[in-house]
Amino acid sequence: MRRGRRRLGENSRAVHLPAPPLPREAPTGQPVWRTSGWNLPGSPGYAESAAARSSGLASDRADNPTVAAFAAAMAAMEGAAAPEDVAGQAFPSGMAATTAVFLTFLRAGTHVLAPAPVHGGTHSLLTNVLSRFGIATDFVDYSDLRRVHRVIRSTTKIIYAETLANPTMAVADIRGLYRLARDAGALLVVDSTLATPVVCRPLEHGADLVVHSATRYVGGHDDCAGGVVVGRPDLINLIREIRVDTGGSLSPDDAFLLRRGMETMTLRVRRMCSTAMVFAASLAKHPAVRWVDYPGLPAHPGHQLARHLFDSGPEGTRFGGCVTVTVHGGYDAGAALADALRLTRLAGSLGGTRTTAVHLASAARPDEALSGVDAGAVRFSIGLEDAEDLIVDVTQALDAVRDGSHTRA
Ligand SMILES: Cc1ncc(COP(=O)(O)O)c(C=O)c1O
Repeated sequence: MRRGRRRLGENSRAVHLPAPPLPREAPTGQPVWRTSGWNLPGSPGYAESAAARSSGLASDRADNPTVAAFAAAMAAMEGAAAPEDVAGQAFPSGMAATTAVFLTFLRAGTHVLAPAPVHGGTHSLLTNVLSRFGIATDFVDYSDLRRVHRVIRSTTKIIYAETLANPTMAVADIRGLYRLARDAGALLVVDSTLATPVVCRPLEHGADLVVHSATRYVGGHDDCAGGVVVGRPDLINLIREIRVDTGGSLSPDDAFLLRRGMETMTLRVRRMCSTAMVFAASLAKHPAVRWVDYPGLPAHPGHQLARHLFDSGPEGTRFGGCVTVTVHGGYDAGAALADALRLTRLAGSLGGTRTTAVHLASAARPDEALSGVDAGAVRFSIGLEDAEDLIVDVTQALDAVRDGSHTRA
């Protein structure tokens, strides 16, 4: 050992390993910044760094570059017509994203309009949680905008909608709702989880904010969770403050998977839409089926609206990748259909590469509003399998339901 240079002990050496150098070239792949802490520049620079942090420019556990890259990517996809005017904030789940939006723009005495039916988690958040803080909600059937207009109050601050409703596949009249929200001085917030920006970009039709459960089609492989809100930067900055105050930090590993999923989202969703169209049209003809909810079918109440709002490609209009099949025979028949599936897996999750199905009445929480949903309804999330294999699988399950082999002894 050289004189004058004291060698660190083995423990100190272990935790003060040389820091990995920052690469000179930009990586072609996506780096994962797996760190929840950042070195401060030294006391004089601390105030400057803290100020930057509060505006979301610098990083601590609340702001991570991998997470910010995911949020920015979603903002770019949703704001395709004007990407520079759209910002995003990422969250650990879709419900965390929706919660932050509500907490940012609502307070005691204010009022929200939500569609009926609405995603169960959103329903529960509004009725079980926000109601305790003096926030009122009306759940309204959005198919008639005059009815929506009648329930708007002077205290209405948010009109909440779902581009494609889960599980009825109702299509929101985003442009009509935008006019109502604008006249009421309220924000139009659209949950576009089932549509994805590949099918529809609500900001282009007047929405103020778009929310996603990125856990679904964005990640797309059932291996990560996350949520995101995108919209005008001034609104997003307010949402960020609430996100930081409530500790809604998405992990960089999940952000990596979500952003990677985005690179194939267009391919996946386009294929899922094509398969869902063939699947819905084919199964609607089966004698055990009462009706099929899919906006691609001309008989669906949202068909014309979807043709106006939804993107199309050489394969035709994209109507989404979820199809709800309602069988004759109510609860028992619906449960039997789900149980007779072989290739299709039973799961509440949607948007993954493998087709999943859920018998909605079996899966609903007791407090969940299933209004408008028949007890015989089974929701399918179409995956990347060959359409023919899915149709064969569901047809054999429907044949079993029709034969009455599901009838309980
Ligand atoms: C339409 C819709 N909104 C919100 C959510 C909630 O998202 P998360 O499960 O990521 O909290 C889901 C979940 O499936 C959903 O389908």
